[in-house]
Amino acid sequence: MRGKIVPDSVKHLQYEIRKVVEDAYKLVDLGVKMQWENIGDPIGTGEQVAPWIREAIANIAAENSSWAYSPTRGVKAARDFIAHTVNARGGVQITADDILFFNGLGDAVNKVYQLIRPEARVIMPSPCYSTHLSSEIMRGDHAPLTFRLDHRNDWQPDLADLRKKIAQHPEIVAIMLINPDNPTGMTYDREMLEEIVSIARDNGLFVISDEVYQQITFNGAQPLPIADVLGDVPGLALRGISKEYPWPGGRCGWLEFYNTGKDADFALYADSLFKAKMMEVCATTLPQLSIPVVMGDSRYQENLDKRAKIFEKRANDAYDFFNAIDGVTANRPRGAFYFTVVFDDGVLRENTLPIADPKVRDFIEAKVPGMISDKRFVYYLMGAYGICVTPLSGFHTELRGFRITLLQNDDATRLANLEKMKQAIEAYLA
Ligand SMILES: Cc1ncc(COP(=O)(O)O)c(C=O)c1O
Repeated sequence: MRGKIVPDSVKHLQYEIRKVVEDAYKLVDLGVKMQWENIGDPIGTGEQVAPWIREAIANIAAENSSWAYSPTRGVKAARDFIAHTVNARGGVQITADDILFFNGLGDAVNKVYQLIRPEARVIMPSPCYSTHLSSEIMRGDHAPLTFRLDHRNDWQPDLADLRKKIAQHPEIVAIMLINPDNPTGMTYDREMLEEIVSIARDNGLFVISDEVYQQITFNGAQPLPIADVLGDVPGLALRGISKEYPWPGGRCGWLEFYNTGKDADFALYADSLFKAKMMEVCATTLPQLSIPVVMGDSRYQENLDKRAKIFEKRANDAYDFFNAIDGVTANRPRGAFYFTVVFDDGVLRENTLPIADPKVRDFIEAKVPGMISDKRFVYYLMGAYGICVTPLSGFHTELRGFRITLLQNDDATRLANLEKMKQAIEAYLA
């Protein structure tokens, strides 16, 4: 080639959640029977979508009109329905034109950061779901700029750290949060959200709130959209159906813009996102058409409640297991469907686990030299116990640990996996 094709920033294109899987598949080829505790896809792990939801979608697919393009912002009936739901809560009021649909939130997340000036920064929680953080740092080939979630304090945000970083970095234009959070399962309560909004207000920042897990709360937490506490501060929320119906393969998510009328620069940003989407024509029509039908059905809330109860039970089972192990810290989740275990400082060394099959052992031993310490544990866990989890270092944090999902549908397998992980940690740290 006459010149370099890709920019230096491609090094930030990292998605550890799927990267470990490539080697996990190689282990499967070597005969390891793998349990997949890594990807947040409820359907991929066996959840059956409620039959009435599938039927409603099949009926819509049978309509010729559902095969058409939709308006760039999204199907009007879906946007009217969403705007009505937001407004009924009594917080920030929006119209259908404050909503913009995307092909899943993965698509939305990329655009949200692409259209911010390369020199401007968005401060993110750490640990952080990697799609947000990678998109943010790629834009300007930056180092991550994060505030700490404190695993010694129920994963609550360290507000002193947030304030300090905002004061030190005048290039910060927005605060991002994920509520309920991936990977920690933490939820932000009203007081905490109000504090964050007031920090944004005092510093002239906008707030980005990823609410893809908004309707999955338990252990006493309630859904708390940022729109309820934002007041006059500009902000946007990301919502979707991947985790809620759940329909991850539907690739449907949307942005809700709040208070565009309060700041001309923020209004221009929202309009730029709309124009960028216009160049792609529109997002997929069929899932959008399903929103008023499915979310407007009286059985929808029942479905959400039933799922939240299931995740609550699984979260509490995981807490009971991991909390009883020396050398790790575990917190009781209140939302989403993940569980994060943190190794205590200094417990991880060049530890190993016995692997009976020589082919598997050779594969793991060839991979681990020089590997970051929690990823090394994850590889041994795959080789010795056939369980694939995600290393916590893949979520842009100095902490070392791993994330599992709470999606295993078969209770006996789920509890057996927890038992195996407990044994693996104890043997690894012995
Ligand atoms: C916090 C968070 N935001 C966004 C997404 C992307 O969701 P979607 O399926 O809509 O692309 C995920 C997926 O796991 C997620 O965990």
